[in-house]
Formats: sequence, structure tokens, C-alpha cells
Amino acid sequence: MRSSALADVAGAESSRALDDVRVAWLGKKGRLTAELKALGGLPPDQRREVGQAVNTLKQELAQAIEARKADLDRAALDARLADETLDVTLPGRAVDPGGPHPVSRAMARILDIFRGLGFAVADGPEVEDDYHNFEALNFPEHHPARAMHDTFYLPDGRLLRTHTSPVQVRVMKEQAPPVRIVAPGRVFRSDSDQTHTPQFHQVEGLLVDEDVTFADLKGLLATFVNEYFEDELEMRLRPSYFPFTEPSAEVDIRWRNADGSAGRWLEVLGCGMVHPNVLTHCGVDAERYTGYAFGLGVERFAMLRYRVDDLRLFFDNDVRFLAQFR
Ligand code: DAH
Repeated sequence: MRSSALADVAGAESSRALDDVRVAWLGKKGRLTAELKALGGLPPDQRREVGQAVNTLKQELAQAIEARKADLDRAALDARLADETLDVTLPGRAVDPGGPHPVSRAMARILDIFRGLGFAVADGPEVEDDYHNFEALNFPEHHPARAMHDTFYLPDGRLLRTHTSPVQVRVMKEQAPPVRIVAPGRVFRSDSDQTHTPQFHQVEGLLVDEDVTFADLKGLLATFVNEYFEDELEMRLRPSYFPFTEPSAEVDIRWRNADGSAGRWLEVLGCGMVHPNVLTHCGVDAERYTGYAFGLGVERFAMLRYRVDDLRLFFDNDVRFLAQFR
């Protein structure tokens, strides 16, 4: 019986099978239990001896079952650990990070430079009225310069601002000189080709104070351009025309070829001295104060800095393009 019981224990391959073995031998109706019950039927001189042997075997069997159970549990744990092993040398799952859009980057760079030069950032609405977009900026009704602006009109007569210059008007009406602001934002014109999109971004600048001169303007713009391009670029001012400045100029910079030599002249900005009519319209004493203003296209500055040759790439939102600016 002993060798048969121990063989059953050794042969149990799972804790469930082991439990069946325990019940078969030690349970209420188990074989050893039956053996003990049968003691009474033995001749008295054998009872003691057989009883002791059965009890000893019961203990031995109980111990063997405990030991077998520990073995099975350990084997099950080992199997599970082997199964759930992590290969920490496998490459991780990459997170694809985004980044600021190149136009946003150029915008942030531009504003950062002007903030450093003491300019506050001002804001104005994208839906404007004729008065702020044109009239107060010295574009009278039927003035031919209005035709340069390809304006989007709303059914109620308002319009999408064609430039950020109306913010000049809003700021001057709110705030007495000295005024020193830049106004970034979206502008809209009904125009679309390789170098024009119906929506683009400008930064407007305005400084009004006593004794402001054209030389101040030129110095400021040279500082700005050199900071932006991180270079000492040649710059020239060409006489031009804007209704809201007099005199007016366009600013060109001398681009550098890849080998560092002087390249083409590129127009980058419009600027001038604020027209006395504009100051007067905005309630600023044009006898006492003078001012300068300038306006630049942010996409143009982004194209130059990042050497992008088609404006439309900025608006296609192709991640293969955008990922290069992460
Ligand atoms: N508003 C002009 C445009 O969109 C740009 C500009 C030119 C702004 C000269 C100015 C300025 O403030 O002085 O074409």
C-alpha cells in the first residue's frame, strides 16, 4: 500500500490531480481511512501493530502530498515567469512628436526680437470695417490704392482686414503717445499663386513719440533684420508709396548665396513716417508728435530663413514637410 500510495503522489502532474490522490487515500472514504475502520475486525494481537503502521503511513503520505504540492506550485510559477518574460532589449514604440509650424516659429522669432527692443504686442480684429482698414489710414473712398488690396467683403459691408495696419488706428485711439507696439496677425486678400495665398500673416510696427525720425526707423529695421537672419546683411531703402506713410519706403536686403557671397536684392518690408493725416484722424497732435510704421509678411520671412521656395507648402499641412521643422 505504501509504495502504491507514494507512486500515486509522484505521478500527480497538477495540483488538481494531487488533490484527487489525497481524497482517494486520506479522504473520508479513502483507502487508509477504510483501513483504520477495518482494524476492529482484526485479531486483537494484530490491531496495535497494524494501527501504528497505518497511522505512520498516513503521516508519511500527508507529508509527501505537501512536498509534491510545493514542487507543483514552484513549477507552475516558473512556467508563468518564463511565459511572461519581457525582452527589455526590444526597441520601444516611438511617439511621433509634433512641433511648431514654421510660420509660427518665424512669428515667435520676430515678436521676440521686437519685445527685446521695447515693443509691446497689440491685437485687433480680423473682421474689420472700412474705416479702420482704409479710411482712417488715409485711403479716401475711390482712392486707387484701395484697388491694390483685393478685399474680401462681408454682406453687411464689413471686410476681412487686408493688412495689420488698422491696429495702428485702434491703438492710437486708445493710447496717448508714446506708443511703441507690434501687431501680429492674419490678413486676407483675394489672391492665390506661388507667392500669394488668400490668407497670410503680417507683423505691423508703430512708434509714435516726440522727435522720432526716419533715421530711427532705419536703425531699428537694420537691427531687426540682422537679428532675424543672424547675419550682417546689406540693407537699402527704396522710395515707395503707401497712403498712410509719408515719406514711404520699401526695404530690400542683399541675400547671401550658399557660398557666402553677395546675392540678389530681396524686398522684405514696407515702412515710412506716419502720415500727419493718420495721426490727426486718431486724435494725435501732429504738430507735436511724429512716428514711424512698418509692415512685414511673416511667410516671406519664414521662406527666407528656412529656404522654402513655395509659399503653398506652409498651408498644405503635409507632415513630411512639417516634420522637418520639429
Ligand atoms: N500695410 C502694408 C501692406 O499690407 C504694409 C505696410 C507698409 C505697413 C508700410 C506699414 C507701412 O505700417 O508703414 O502692404
